[in-house]
Amino acid sequence: MLKMWSGRFTKGTDERMDDFHSSIHFDQRLYKQDLAGSRAHVRMLAACGIISETEKEQILSGLAKVEQALEAGKLSLHAGLEDIHMAVEHYLTAEIGEVGKKLHTARSRNDQVATDLRLYLREVARQVQDRLVQLSRVLIDRAEAESETLMPGYTHLQPAQPITLGHHLLAYFEMFYRDLTRVEDCLERANYSPLGAGALAGVTYPIDRELTAQLLGFTAPMANSLDAVSDRDFVIEFLAALSIIMVHLSRFCEELIIWSNPAFGFVELDDAYSTGSSIMPQKKNPDVPELVRGKAGRVFGDLMAILTVVKGIPLAYNKDLQEDKEAFFDAVDTVLACLEIFIPLLSTLKFNREKMRAACNEGYLNATDVADYLAKKGLPFRDAHEIVGKVVRYAIDHGLRLEELSLSQWQEFSPLFEPDILETVQIEACVAARNSLGGTAPAQVRAAVKRSRELLDKFSIK
Ligand code: ARG
Repeated sequence: MLKMWSGRFTKGTDERMDDFHSSIHFDQRLYKQDLAGSRAHVRMLAACGIISETEKEQILSGLAKVEQALEAGKLSLHAGLEDIHMAVEHYLTAEIGEVGKKLHTARSRNDQVATDLRLYLREVARQVQDRLVQLSRVLIDRAEAESETLMPGYTHLQPAQPITLGHHLLAYFEMFYRDLTRVEDCLERANYSPLGAGALAGVTYPIDRELTAQLLGFTAPMANSLDAVSDRDFVIEFLAALSIIMVHLSRFCEELIIWSNPAFGFVELDDAYSTGSSIMPQKKNPDVPELVRGKAGRVFGDLMAILTVVKGIPLAYNKDLQEDKEAFFDAVDTVLACLEIFIPLLSTLKFNREKMRAACNEGYLNATDVADYLAKKGLPFRDAHEIVGKVVRYAIDHGLRLEELSLSQWQEFSPLFEPDILETVQIEACVAARNSLGGTAPAQVRAAVKRSRELLDKFSIK
């Protein structure tokens, strides 16, 4: 077909060229944003006297018809149309005739596509935030119910100190809450209008960029036309935020995978979110957490793709930038899909409190508490550490837990040990004692639950 830009050409493009350079098969996803941008643009053109009121009305009603037809799937979005921007203009002109050709006055696809993408980011960022809030609520509820549940805390995946499960879960709340605010930060910076930047240098018409910015809910017009059409840092920043969400989800998933191994047995995933094996009848596999963990790599890849696309292109617009969209969309789809499945997975899984408590009996989780006990009696911590190391060695050799040592056994290692050491080494006591701000004691967890709920309540998604 004849291109909208065919004036200076003497022949049409090769059909392989159409397939190669058109983006309509993926950017049709932006049709709503594109229509919104066009409506604002047309209103502004009329307000500034660049087109007449009648022309504005004709174009607006034509755009409404194009929208309906698009939604009904009645319009063919073939490669010859190139992209969604050209498609809308093409069908608008087919609908209302010559006046449709005025839509593109004082505009370029370069400022148009940048506008569409920012509008799109605004919409999907809200969806991501909405899922993060839901996930956070589930986390807080579950943490509250497990504020006294004891489990081993690990460093190097080796038993370290006893903690409460509620505390562990709230660690993830903190991460996801930061993610929520990180997305908010992206939104704040992304919400500026490129419209009116034209192809690269601004336009020769008396346009009102403030008006289009305002009509589209942008904070303000972007200050520099070259920047407006050629940077995609808002996509990069958003994908970086999405990547961090995936890092957090993936770590959580890794833990669920480990915890659901029978050797741990800390959790059982609900049957609704597990799968079996085609050959081993006994299997119950944590496919969902594994897939989320795997998809993290995919989102990082999308981020890397966009970084790489943008890094070498001279100002201003270059066609390379068309490659931003698929990575952007893929990252968004992936993160939303992961959050959507992870929320019910988390709300339905069962924690096995007995197994967690039993695991606290292994690994000498209370050794630090004994060192602290001696240090509080005036022994330098380093010396206390040395003595307790010897106690642990003794206990390992005799197959004993520290809770099983008698007072006289303790006193063989130091005269500072008194009868209260027998209580000090109880796992419950160790956890209750870590009552410092942000610590694992049930009292801290309950306070953190309250604080977390307040933070979420204060966070409103616009
Ligand atoms: N489909 C193009 C993109 O996604 C739209 C902008 C085209 N601009 C141009 N000068 N060829 O980037």
